[in-house]
Amino acid sequence: MANAANGPKIVLGIDIGGTGIKGAPVNVETGELTAERARYDTPQPSTPENVAAVVRQMVDHFNWKGPIGCTFPAIVRNGVTLSAANVDKSWLNAPAEQILTDGVGQPLKLLNDADAAGLAEQTFGAAKGQMGKVLVVTLGTGIGTALIVDGKLISNTEFGHLIYPKDTIAEKYCSGKVKDDLDLKWKDFNPRLNGYLQHLDLLLSPDLVIIGGGISKKHEKFIPEMTGIRFEVVAATLQNDAGIVGAALEAAYTYGVL
Ligand code: BGC
Repeated sequence: MANAANGPKIVLGIDIGGTGIKGAPVNVETGELTAERARYDTPQPSTPENVAAVVRQMVDHFNWKGPIGCTFPAIVRNGVTLSAANVDKSWLNAPAEQILTDGVGQPLKLLNDADAAGLAEQTFGAAKGQMGKVLVVTLGTGIGTALIVDGKLISNTEFGHLIYPKDTIAEKYCSGKVKDDLDLKWKDFNPRLNGYLQHLDLLLSPDLVIIGGGISKKHEKFIPEMTGIRFEVVAATLQNDAGIVGAALEAAYTYGVL
C-alpha cells in the first residue's frame, strides 16, 4: 500500500513498547487508522536486531511502501537512543533510526513514544487547541511524558524518571506495569498516582494533564479520585492508538506528506 496522487494522505505508524509492537496505516489529516492495527510481542531479548526484524514484519504485514513513523520507549535525539530503561541495554547510544531504516529499506522517522502520544493528542485529541502548559503522561510499562507549551512540543522530557517518592523512580512506583505486577487494587494504586501528580504540580504547574497508556481505558476508576491538584486532569482521547498516530504525524511532517 502507498499514497495515490490525490487520495488520502496515509503514513504507516509503528509504536514500539516494552511489551508489544503495534502498527497501522494512519490518515494523517484525520488521525484515523485506515486498517485494523497489527500487534506483535516485543521480542526477548529486545536487541536492535530482533526489534528491527519485527518492525520489518509489520511493514510486510501491511505490504507498506512509503514513509514510516516509529516510536521508541527511550530518549531519541537526532535518531540516537540515549536511554534504555525498558528495552535491551544494547540500545543505549545506538543509531536506532538508522538501524530501523536499514531494516525496512524505506524512510523511517523515529521519536520518543510519549512525544508521539503528545503530538497525536495535540493534533486530534484532548490537547487540541489548548494553550498554556499541557503535560501528557503515559502509564504503561514505564511512565512517559510529553510537555506541550502553547502548542509546541518540548521533546524528550523524562518526568517518569523523577525521584518520587523518596529513593524511588516514579515509573517504578505508579506505572501501569507496577499496578499489574503488584496486583494493586485501585484503592491502593490511586494514592500513588495522586502523589506523583501532586509532585508534578509542584514542579511544573501545568494547566492540563492528559493521562494515556493502556490504563487510560479505565479512566473512570482513577481520574475522579485525584485530589489536591491545581490542574485539570483528563483521559487521553486516542488512548492506545496515540503512539501510532503521533508517529505517523511526525513522519508526515518530516517527509513532506503534510
Ligand atoms: C522511558 C521514556 C519512555 C517511557 C514510556 C521510560 O522508561 O525513559 O523515554 O517514554 O518509559 O515508554
